[in-house]
This record gives sequence, C-alpha cells and structure tokens, in this order.
Amino acid sequence: MQTKKVIVGNWKMYKTIGESVAFVEKLLPIANRSTSQVMLAVPFTALERTATAARGSQLLIGAQNMHDAPEGAFTGEISAKMIVDAGGRFVLLGHSERRALFHESDDFINRKVKSALAAGLRPILCVGESLQEHESGRSQAVVEAQLKGSLAGISADQLHQLMVAYEPVWAIGTGKTATPAIAQAMHHQIRQQVGSIKILYGGSVKPENVKELLEQQDIDGVLVGGASLSLDSFVKIVDYRANCKT
Ligand code: 13P
Repeated sequence: MQTKKVIVGNWKMYKTIGESVAFVEKLLPIANRSTSQVMLAVPFTALERTATAARGSQLLIGAQNMHDAPEGAFTGEISAKMIVDAGGRFVLLGHSERRALFHESDDFINRKVKSALAAGLRPILCVGESLQEHESGRSQAVVEAQLKGSLAGISADQLHQLMVAYEPVWAIGTGKTATPAIAQAMHHQIRQQVGSIKILYGGSVKPENVKELLEQQDIDGVLVGGASLSLDSFVKIVDYRANCKT
C-alpha cells in the first residue's frame, strides 16, 4: 500500500476573501477524489469563509502563522485558539520568511509549536538553510539546529501530531528547485532526527518537478508557494500521477 502524500498550498499574502472562496469551491471535488491529502494555508482574513466552504470535505484549511500566547495585549497577533475557532486545522510555523523578515527565533517557534499542539492545531514546522549557509557547506548543521531548537521538549507522542517542511531558502520563489537528490539527502537526515512523521519539501515546486520529488523515499509531500496560486497549476500538482480514485 502506498502511503498518502501530502500536498500543501501556501498562499502567503495573496488573495482576497472572494478569490479564496472561489478557488476552494473549484478545488473541492479534486481534493475529494485525490489519493493525496490536500491542504491550503490561507490568509487569516479568508480562514473562516474557506474553512466553512471546505467543511465535510477532504480539503484541510489552515493558517500561515500564529502567536504563542493564548491571548493578551499583542496588537495585530492571532492565537491558536482563534485559528481553531475560525475552522483552521493546521498552522505553518517558522516559515523562512517569518524567520528572516520578522526575526523569529527557534525559541519563539518552539513556544508556538507547543501552543498549537495544546489547542489541537497541527503544526507544519518549516526549516531550511539560506543560500550563504548552503554555499558554505553548513546546510546539515543549520537544519539540525533548527529542528533541535524548535522541537525542544516535544514528546514522541506530540511529534506524531506534526509535520516538518524542509524549504531551502535559496529555492523559495527563485525557480531553483533543490535537485531530488539534494532534497532526498536532507530529508534522510531529518528522518534520523524526527522518525516516521511526514516530511514535506518546499521551494519552487511546480507541475513539472513534483513527481520526481515525490518519488524520493523520504519526501512525503510538498509545500507549494507560487504554483498554488493558480488553480490550474495547483490541480496539476495534486494530480501529479493522475492519482484519482475514480
Ligand atoms: P515557492 O513555491 O513560491 O518557491 O514558495 C515555497 C514556499 O515558501 C512555500 O511555503
């Protein structure tokens, strides 16, 4: 039996509520008949409406970030409980754009992982090295340290409720995908650290390269940015091996 692959779209700061709901309505039948688990990380503003549209279907809607505190005086922030309340089922944590542009540390991300789990929200923990770290041969050490810091104090049981996404920063939005061999080597290393949980690859995933990536032994799914914004290319990714039950 083949294990279920996981295909996650990350819309980043794109799409209005209307655009999001229209997209989800068209994606639903495809997600429902797919043998893969399809998920969409939407902007906060579109969370409730898209989650309502997807209710009872195979498509899971989630958020792209959260604060670690359950509530409090944190102007502009959103808690895990609020995401659950809006119908979100998962949350991306520690995305490289959050780490780089908003200075998120492993420590902060670790607290978010714990808060998400406590609220019943499934974290997708993102890790990945920068171009400079990659070129200086530090990729393995960087990713190992990010995992260690972000997962500090997480029990084996809790670990099974989350997924890890390896997204080399030099491959995000650049059109430069890591070769399947490079990605597989890093996923193999991550596997030694986290065991049998789902490990996704992200960074310029497109309809043309998704199949080869998903054929690698330790690549259990993909986290897709740019190519998840158009229904046509996202559906091609979901249907990467014409993997429909019907
Ligand atoms: P791209 O697919 O646009 O490279 O983005 C990847 C990403 O950051 C997904 O979280």
